[in-house]
Amino acid sequence: MRALTLAAAITLLAVTASAPFAGAQKIPLSIDASRAGAKIDRHIFGQFAEHLGHGIYDGIWVGHDSNIPNTRGIRNDVVAALKAIKVPDVRWPGGCFADEYHWRNGVGPRRTVTLNPNWGGVIEPNTFGTDEFMDFLGQIGAEAYVSVNVGSGSPREAAEWLEYLTASQPTTLAKERAANGHPDAYKVGFLGIGNESWDCGGNMTPDYYLSQLKIYSRFVRNYNPEQQDRNQMLKIAVGPGGGEPRWTEWTETIMKAYQHHQWSWDMDGLSMHSYTVVNWPPAFKSTGFGETEYAQILKSTMDMDGLVEKHSAIMDKYDPGKKIALVVDEWGAWYAPLPGTHQGFLVQQNSLRDAVLAALNLNIFARHADRVRMANIAQMINVLQSMIMTDKEKMVLTPTYYVFKMYVPFQDATFVPVTYDAGSYTHGDITLPRLDAIAAKDAAGKLWLEVTNVDPNQSAEIEVGLAGGAAKSATGQTLTAPKVDSVNTFDTPDSVIPKPVSVSTQGGKLILKLEPKSVTVVSIEQ
Ligand code: AHR
Repeated sequence: MRALTLAAAITLLAVTASAPFAGAQKIPLSIDASRAGAKIDRHIFGQFAEHLGHGIYDGIWVGHDSNIPNTRGIRNDVVAALKAIKVPDVRWPGGCFADEYHWRNGVGPRRTVTLNPNWGGVIEPNTFGTDEFMDFLGQIGAEAYVSVNVGSGSPREAAEWLEYLTASQPTTLAKERAANGHPDAYKVGFLGIGNESWDCGGNMTPDYYLSQLKIYSRFVRNYNPEQQDRNQMLKIAVGPGGGEPRWTEWTETIMKAYQHHQWSWDMDGLSMHSYTVVNWPPAFKSTGFGETEYAQILKSTMDMDGLVEKHSAIMDKYDPGKKIALVVDEWGAWYAPLPGTHQGFLVQQNSLRDAVLAALNLNIFARHADRVRMANIAQMINVLQSMIMTDKEKMVLTPTYYVFKMYVPFQDATFVPVTYDAGSYTHGDITLPRLDAIAAKDAAGKLWLEVTNVDPNQSAEIEVGLAGGAAKSATGQTLTAPKVDSVNTFDTPDSVIPKPVSVSTQGGKLILKLEPKSVTVVSIEQ
């Protein structure tokens, strides 16, 4: 039961959890729009795009001479699709790739061809580099989250990269940028200082990483005049990768140091990575599975809540004012690679289960909006739990994409409390909350409600009331499909797409019918 007041709990005592539509008791859900919570930062809807498999090459970059319609080498279909979900920021170039990336290989007329040892050992042509990334961001209207190389780079290399990107005075690097076609300084909203430095980023101890963090934080500067007083670049430190003692020690070390930090270094965010994988190596199939795997994966994904709480509690000890954001900059489902694909390319299908999983995680982030102010799903295109899949000229939007689209109104909206009896869904030895909901008010004062029905077998009818007010009407969309593993393919791209949802009004309350295994978003007129 989420955020249930005592009074509401008494009212709800007699509610039956599993109700088919016809004649069954409706599940009361109450929204208190008069009580404002934290802002749901739009950056929790951020994306992650690594040089991995076809995430960049083919997914974004097809080159100027491609037959695939493009603008300066960047696919037009992908840009249009990403604009529609208002991507707030893109984390790039990795991932593990970032700690072996040398930015100079990817600027100017002659690119250095290297290898990508992390991801299949394939050729990295470096044709998509800094200026192409910034062009791509300009086309989709997103901010840059640049991860600098701590593992095999140097503070000087990273500092020069930021000078190339952001200096407006005529330094040699700024002139080089101008010669490469961009006289104006770029804006860099976020700076990632290393990636998983406890593992692929260099197997560092927390203390060793901390010493690196201080140096990079001090010397890697953003020179853009528009980012000095306002819109300053936020620096994100490497944080935990789980809930085990080694991760709590990591968070403790960084946050304790932050509490007593001197003027000469600073940070604004602590990264956290958590994939829904159940066991390592990833073995769950991304399609062709049944209810058991549906329940197992969703149970596992709910661990995100405990993980956020655990690390938030440590952060609260050293940063009670919540200046430092918890940045979940790698999350999502990680399944076995699709048969026939390159094992190092992390290609998986994206099903209705992933849509439900995405909604559950976004709701967890929204409920912790005071601390979780950024998150980046892994990964944007063709890799892991992607928004988009491409194959040469073909493109298909995934069920996860549609969830991000339906959630656009929640970007920068203000969280408002919602109380309801979640009930339960049981399959075998797994029991999960059956319903999951969040509500928020957008900048125009419009009220939005999201409800996920986790139960793949039972529909639910909910009666939505507004504390101290009446609901006049509501409109919205729901995302569901016949099977838990229904997917969109290049041949059948519309198997899992949002459809209008049926809402009626009775005595100032909304009656909302939720299909089994569905994600529903409605806007409410008061
Ligand atoms: O997203 C794939 C990989 O997962 C990233 O490169 C790394 O940071 C994480 O381990």
